[in-house]
Amino acid sequence: MYEYELEKYANDILESENFQSTKAYIQHGNMSVQEHCINVAKTSLYIRDKFKIRCSTNDLVRGALLHDYFLYDWHKNDKVNPHRLHGFFHPARALQNARKEYSLTAIQIDIITKHMWPLTMIPPMCREAWIVTTADKYCSLMETLYIQRGDIQKNRLRRKKVSAN
Ligand SMILES: [Fe+2]
Ligand SMILES: [Fe+2]
Repeated sequence: MYEYELEKYANDILESENFQSTKAYIQHGNMSVQEHCINVAKTSLYIRDKFKIRCSTNDLVRGALLHDYFLYDWHKNDKVNPHRLHGFFHPARALQNARKEYSLTAIQIDIITKHMWPLTMIPPMCREAWIVTTADKYCSLMETLYIQRGDIQKNRLRRKKVSAN
């Protein structure tokens, strides 16, 4: 569901090398950052439809896909950054990375920088950013509780089944 809108508005992001590379980083549970961002984009579209919210689909989809575009594994310390305050600082990093590759609208910037509200203190200023911050919290909870499972675990279970046969 919603694949059509994702491809229509953000095929360039979906197919880009950097976005594809986020498959390798875990976000929550066993969900990769890439799958998490796609889940957040689809859930945002669902919220838009469910509550009949008039908003820019282009900004909603692109902002949701780029909201966690920090491009590192936040579970692993590295020499440059121990990622201890990842929750506070990753929106700024995501914005910095996204800006290098895409020309962002004010709405997309608001989505990326405010998605961790209330950690960010200043609340979202547009409907699209409110939708994405809500979708992000819902998806993060589902992923952390393993209610929504990622491909990493699905593939592991598949491999176990094959080797058991
Ligand atoms: Fe995030
Ligand atoms: Fe997120």
